[in-house]
Amino acid sequence: MVVERASQQARVLVASNRGPVSYSTADDGSLTVKRGGGGLVSGLSAIAAGGSGTEKDADAVWVCAALGDGDRQAARRRSDGRLDPSDTGGQSVRMLDIPAETFSAAYNGIANSVLWFVHHMLYQTPLEPSFDADFEEQWAAYKLYNAAFAQALAEDAAHGASVMVQDYHLTLVPGLLRAYRPDLRIGHFSHTPWAPPDYYRMLPDAVAEEVLRGILGADRAAFLTERWAQAFADCCVRVLGARTGRNEATQEIEVVLEGRTTRLGVHGLGADAEFLRERAGRDDVEERIGMLRKQIGSGPDGQPRRALVRVDRTELSKNIVRGLHAYRRLLEDRPEWRERVVHLALAYPSRQDLAVYRDYMTEVSRVADEINSTYGTDSWTPVVLFLKDDFARSLAAYRLADVALVNPIRDGMNLVAKEVPVVSDDGCALVLSREAGAYAELGDDSIVVNPYDIADTSRALHEALTMERHTRAERTKRLSTAATALPPTRWFLDQLEALRAVTP
Ligand code: G6P
Repeated sequence: MVVERASQQARVLVASNRGPVSYSTADDGSLTVKRGGGGLVSGLSAIAAGGSGTEKDADAVWVCAALGDGDRQAARRRSDGRLDPSDTGGQSVRMLDIPAETFSAAYNGIANSVLWFVHHMLYQTPLEPSFDADFEEQWAAYKLYNAAFAQALAEDAAHGASVMVQDYHLTLVPGLLRAYRPDLRIGHFSHTPWAPPDYYRMLPDAVAEEVLRGILGADRAAFLTERWAQAFADCCVRVLGARTGRNEATQEIEVVLEGRTTRLGVHGLGADAEFLRERAGRDDVEERIGMLRKQIGSGPDGQPRRALVRVDRTELSKNIVRGLHAYRRLLEDRPEWRERVVHLALAYPSRQDLAVYRDYMTEVSRVADEINSTYGTDSWTPVVLFLKDDFARSLAAYRLADVALVNPIRDGMNLVAKEVPVVSDDGCALVLSREAGAYAELGDDSIVVNPYDIADTSRALHEALTMERHTRAERTKRLSTAATALPPTRWFLDQLEALRAVTP
């Protein structure tokens, strides 16, 4: 590969599939831009504002993929794929115009249908996965897509720069980039869980190896919890025969393979209290609280009904269907709750290119309808389902929730569990799956469930609904403290500092 150095070189680079902005095309052909949030956005803004002490605005660049047609048009405006800074809030963003078929095979075919499934243990194994010729083609596309990122980063990085590669979409990038540019400090961050070795080894052997070797190309590979870092280390031992130990100074796990050491870091991303509290206090949220309260209504005793809330992307791992079954079981086993509770389920569309996600969404609606037709009355709708993404409504639901249900079958962290306690008006009981990364920090003050166990989840819902007000308020305070221990900006800067402390 020929690496052509960009004229302006960056000292800090972030690479992720989804970038900080997305474009859509209006009917008249014009482009509208939408800006996203999250830990990477706030971390990079902190650098731009001089937060890390050494960087200036122009020293950071974010490399991402064009996801749809609007993005592609925007990426093609300039030959180097740089976006107009007025669209990005001044941030330097390079959007890669990877051919649509290659992108789709890599993103839908490998990242979301294989790697995501492996790490969240989502396969129904009697029939899947089945790695055949289609998979081989998609895997080839995934390699091309990773190579496009590695090339762009190699071009844009200044000598000795720090590169922070994100997630399961880009597992091969650290290894490829190290081969082009051994001078760089390379970090990789997994936002997902990591599968235990027996499950991980479902992947074809060569692929299982390539993914691990790709990430081990980094100086530091970081995870959301110790549990996922340990699982990654276990896979390196079992699949690659690597050695592991602990760094004496930092206590971080180290993986040694063929004489090179990769440190494993743990950075448990927290909620952004300042942003959430400000945003949750705005008029549009107040307005939605009014609307939701009307829908919740009052029970036969004239008291406002309890609100059981969940907010998720409609994602297979979020376990929305079993959550509904547990709620049905509650209404069945404990008729005293009928007419006295409403389940607000905010389930926003996600990854709708994949049939299995569309089917899952249909199943969520079907089960909700079934519960409503079995138990509903003229004055009471047991489940109110919202299928359209509306952030202000999510915040409104967080604020008024009596109980929040977060029951994923597996989740890297789960920020909903962390966000609810931060904005809750009167305290909220949290029912939390022990398989969510957030369990490590929030388990003590939650009602913990085995997400596969409907009876257990139903019992937990009853316990949460009957929790004394003052207990609930005290627990919410402690949950909120734990949830905000590592705010997004600090989360990002800690990783950057740790990466810089590594000798390449
Ligand atoms: C998870 C992943 C992220 C991803 C997000 C949304 O949190 O770890 O990398 O951006 O899901 O998924 P999407 O496929 O819509 O980008």
